[in-house]
Amino acid sequence: MKEPVERKARDQWGSRFGVILAVAGSAIGLGNFLRFPVRAAANGGGAFMIPYLIALLVLGIPLAWVEWTLGRYGGRHSHGSGPGVYHRLTGGRPWAKYLGVLTIFIPLTINFYYVFIEGWTLAFSLFAVAGTWNKAIRLGEMDKFLNGFVGAESNAYFNGPWMAIAVFLLVFALNYWVIYKGIRKGIESLARIGVPFLLLCAFALVIRVLTLGTPNAAHPEWNVNNALGFMWNLDLSRLADARVWIEATGQIFFTLSVGMGAILSYASYLRRKDDVTLSALTAASANEFTEVILGGSIAIVAAATFFGAAGAMQIANSGAFSLGFITMPYVFAQMGESGVMGFLWFFLLFLAGVTSSVSLIQPLISFLKDELNIGHVKAILLVAGLNLIVTGFIVATMRWGTLDEMDFWAGSVLPVVSALVMIVLFAFFIGVNRGFREMHQGALIRVPRIYKHIIKYVTPTYLVVLLIFWGIQDWWPTATMQRITDPTQAWMIGITRGLLFAIVLLLLYLVYRAHRMGKFPMKRVRGGTR
Ligand code: PHE
Repeated sequence: MKEPVERKARDQWGSRFGVILAVAGSAIGLGNFLRFPVRAAANGGGAFMIPYLIALLVLGIPLAWVEWTLGRYGGRHSHGSGPGVYHRLTGGRPWAKYLGVLTIFIPLTINFYYVFIEGWTLAFSLFAVAGTWNKAIRLGEMDKFLNGFVGAESNAYFNGPWMAIAVFLLVFALNYWVIYKGIRKGIESLARIGVPFLLLCAFALVIRVLTLGTPNAAHPEWNVNNALGFMWNLDLSRLADARVWIEATGQIFFTLSVGMGAILSYASYLRRKDDVTLSALTAASANEFTEVILGGSIAIVAAATFFGAAGAMQIANSGAFSLGFITMPYVFAQMGESGVMGFLWFFLLFLAGVTSSVSLIQPLISFLKDELNIGHVKAILLVAGLNLIVTGFIVATMRWGTLDEMDFWAGSVLPVVSALVMIVLFAFFIGVNRGFREMHQGALIRVPRIYKHIIKYVTPTYLVVLLIFWGIQDWWPTATMQRITDPTQAWMIGITRGLLFAIVLLLLYLVYRAHRMGKFPMKRVRGGTR
């Protein structure tokens, strides 16, 4: 067998702690502080935690172990993304490398809109300090303020999305600069600063929210205790609704960053004997603590303290953006601490965002470098260029729901498909027994044996059932645009789909190119079929 090419020193993690922090940084994102509280409150509060915990145990954690293992395995053969890893794993089956495109396409597409929103968080933390939104708050016009900011309408606050574009460019440059610095000096260093700081901001906010007491004397029942009750009381009746299960499972995927290729790429920069079992579990636990304990005690609890349970329900139903960017500024103004608290909140979101978005950019970079022999700088310029074009498209067309359309495919539907591919390849091509031996090289803890069965039977079945339910409930009407009446919007969504499809085709073509360059030798390799 040909000796694997050593990767450059730039492309290696500095320490075990560093890689755990980086993966935790990827997992801890906007999802933890915005998506989670909204989903939980709208789907049965404490009862939501039942399907959530089940999904964590049979889906999230096993997938994390599998993805870390596959990533490290790929890295040993100088493959940092799905095509190369799947090719090796299946002993050179010709179709496998093309399936690997999913693990590049999903993070890339999420990144196109994620970085844009990351820009909003940075802008809003500056607005908090400068008091830019004071007038909007006084007039109860934060929704107008946000709409003006993103360019959905021109109004007294903003004349076009110029500010949003400016901060986007700033955040964009920061992201690619971190990628340019490489795995250890860039991503790992960012995580070493970003993750502790974001935790600090989150702790400060939790403490402040939990000590709010009863801020409004006119409404004694609007207090922190009742707000916590609103967030967490069990509404078991909701468990009969398939939607609650689907949402809980989707949240686990999104928040842990599993099944999508980001962790695959990070783990490919591990060394052969680096632990994966304990590291994966540690990163996942850090994410869960941050999501459930911290994320679950800030936004919705604060909203319910100031607006009561009914108000908070309405807020939860109007979505994560509205909670984060419209409701929270009101809440901070009510506290009379708009500047400090507003800054903490939006800067927290910014830090959580940036440590996630670099992990969304890395997979395509790894692919271009490993499989097409493209140089570091050139790879970055190519990805950044594509990013500018697509995000530009989003900025121009967001008012027609093109951002949500991308999120629907890349953030909801395809991760389930991609995770299914990953787990099936692991369970049936390496086989669980060999897979477990691979997983336990250099392992610091043993994975319980029951997980062999879970990975082989429970996880894939769960994913298939989920896809079927989705098909029945949501997927088809959305895919066929049944709920869209505005013709312009239908066009825009059609164009978005065309664009995404074109990107898939481009990636497939690049895989083919790499194949022609001899990157995926056909011979049966060790680690092939069962
Ligand atoms: N886990 C991140 C969040 O909670 C989102 C993300 C998904 C990041 C996939 C990287 C990869 O916001």
